[in-house]
Amino acid sequence: MSEANTQLSLLQRELTLFRFPKRSKEALQAWDAGDEYIIRYVEELNLPDNLNILILNDNFGALSCWFSEKNHVTMMSDSFISHQATLNNIDLNQTKSIQFLNALDNIPEDVDLVLIQIPKNNRLLTWQLSQLRARLTKECPVIAVNKAKEIHTSTLTIFEKHLGETKTSLAWKKHRLVFCQANSQQINSVDPITEWAVDDEDFSLKNYPNTYSGESLDLGARFMLKHLPSNPSVKNIIDLGCGNGVLSVKLAQLNPQAEITCVDESFMALASSKLNIKSAIAESNRFNFIANNCLDGFSQESVDLVVCNPPFHQNNAITDHIAWQMFCDAKQVLRNNGKLIVIGNRHLGYDDKLSRLFTRSKVDKIASNSKFVILQATK
Ligand SMILES: C[S@@+](CC[C@H](N)C(=O)[O-])C[C@H]1O[C@@H](n2cnc3c(N)ncnc32)[C@H](O)[C@@H]1O
Repeated sequence: MSEANTQLSLLQRELTLFRFPKRSKEALQAWDAGDEYIIRYVEELNLPDNLNILILNDNFGALSCWFSEKNHVTMMSDSFISHQATLNNIDLNQTKSIQFLNALDNIPEDVDLVLIQIPKNNRLLTWQLSQLRARLTKECPVIAVNKAKEIHTSTLTIFEKHLGETKTSLAWKKHRLVFCQANSQQINSVDPITEWAVDDEDFSLKNYPNTYSGESLDLGARFMLKHLPSNPSVKNIIDLGCGNGVLSVKLAQLNPQAEITCVDESFMALASSKLNIKSAIAESNRFNFIANNCLDGFSQESVDLVVCNPPFHQNNAITDHIAWQMFCDAKQVLRNNGKLIVIGNRHLGYDDKLSRLFTRSKVDKIASNSKFVILQATK
């Protein structure tokens, strides 16, 4: 596979843009034709400088870097990885510093223009549009973008219902723009939380919009719940990629002596985990919640147990590099004899990956069914 272009050359300007984390031989670009389309469109409007521009869901910071040269940019995203990528790209290109908000923060006041990379998740889109509707004046233009094939009639209905009058552009390089105004007849209040009970367990889970598997329990997590350890000698546990915290809640019940650290790159996932642990577990001072890329910056040899139901895609791209990074990081932070417990679809080949890292004799199969396998690697 050829290496991705890192130079965005557009309208006589040049930006250098990297994904985060930066990888050697990265095959995926840090921006897409949707970013280019929105940049070209806005530049053609010849707007004055020094506008307050709010950018939602900028993936790796292409839009923030571009528009911060001459404007005051606020970048709002649920993703720690996107925040980090944007921060690095702003530094690299020496554009003006910007304000960072996560998707549960309030929409800032006095916004002149809103640009949106339309998220895949309709609950997040609905939440973001309802927040915009409550705050924007109807004069403030909102311009959103996505692949044309991802903009369905139902997507436009969400825009109409939760924000206001909506039009679309012609397609350019398979992308389409959506133009919208905050003028819907009524402001629909949207509850950001969905709650459901977990079968066979004595707790329920609350889920903010962008939390992984926020509508129902992940099948892997369901299987994992039946095989989590209870061990009085375990002092500290990391739930790596905690999502709504389902595994942490169960681990906390099974290991009342253990300190548990929930790690995720989604701020909404961490906020959900916090709510769920608070309502299921009486004492709350043995929990930490950390937004991070895998276990970057964690102390080595400091933890007894890491549990992980790894992600297998980033944005829209299917990838196993995050799982691999998680396994490598877990090995670093585990004490000698510490354990990493991982669940994965059978076809993902995690047993080979773990054997390469820990040696084959240190990797045991704890359980399997027709779809999943649970593996334990001992350091
Ligand atoms: C398959 S989900 C598992 C969620 C939950 N533990 C469960 O079992 O239902 C994987 C989680 O990893 C998180 N994640 C993805 N990339 C990450 C990264 N680089 N660092 C930390 N967490 C990440 C995702 O946000 C997601 O919540």
